Amino acid sequence: MKRLEGRTALVTGAARGIGLEIALAFAAEGAAVAVADLSQEDCAAAAADIAAKTGARTAGIALNVTSEADCERAVAETEKAFGKLDILVNNAGITKDGLVLRMKEADFDSVIAVNLKGSFLMAKAASRPMLKARAGRIINISSVVGQTGQAGQANYSASKAGLIGLTKSLAREFAPRQVLVNAVAPGFIRTRMTDGLKDEAKAKISEMIPLGRMGEPGEVAKAALFLAGDDSAYITGQVLAVNGGLYM
Ligand SMILES: NC(=O)c1ccc[n+]([C@@H]2O[C@H](COP(=O)([O-])OP(=O)(O)OC[C@H]3O[C@@H](n4cnc5c(N)ncnc54)[C@H](O)[C@@H]3O)[C@@H](O)[C@H]2O)c1
Repeated sequence: MKRLEGRTALVTGAARGIGLEIALAFAAEGAAVAVADLSQEDCAAAAADIAAKTGARTAGIALNVTSEADCERAVAETEKAFGKLDILVNNAGITKDGLVLRMKEADFDSVIAVNLKGSFLMAKAASRPMLKARAGRIINISSVVGQTGQAGQANYSASKAGLIGLTKSLAREFAPRQVLVNAVAPGFIRTRMTDGLKDEAKAKISEMIPLGRMGEPGEVAKAALFLAGDDSAYITGQVLAVNGGLYM
């Protein structure tokens, strides 16, 4: 029996990178998956690709997670396509790096808006059907820099630390209805977000990581899969680090 047979999931930022790997892993384990991202074209292409690879039911849903109306529509469209919503993964995220003295107010606001407020809006929209069903999983993709801080990423690390606080508050609020809320905190993972780093910087980062290398998106997806399935039934309000030992 596949681990997510009969479940339905909505993954934000799922057109590429870590989100795409999570959507693919869930579909491979039998879930019907809504692939939500900014561009309808990219969502449709990713949804078709996942369906072809896994045979799972998929849907592409364009949304901007900073819009409450978009978040509510995405949840409604997922319910319409698959009949219910069991699992939400808040994965959509952006960076606008810079040292604080040079960081523009707009760059602080936009990173908080997507990474933190967007996760709140999606959790709020998804919680309605989950609380009613007295079952559900919400998985927030935080980051190691939300735990350690990072020079040049005041906005991003604040958003990811905020996501940990949001995770714990949602976990406490929703626990009486058996809706479990956890976070995954990836370290340095090889995606477009880290592609921009120079080879020298990548080598330096790998030296700092006890396991001696950057992580793969599929390795983050496996942690999300664990938190989405029955094996994590007694786990809520936790932060699962997938960072090669970078932060312990
Ligand atoms: N790559 C890493 O090393 C790393 C480490 C820790 C945490 N993370 C987190 O993992 C998540 C995925 O990162 P990634 O490396 O795959 O990044 P990525 O840039 O490859 O993918 C992010 C996706 O989010 C989408 N997105 C951005 N803004 C959006 C919005 N307003 N509404 C809807 N979708 C939006 C993008 O279109 C993109 O498809 C992010 O939350 C990121 O902060 C990444």
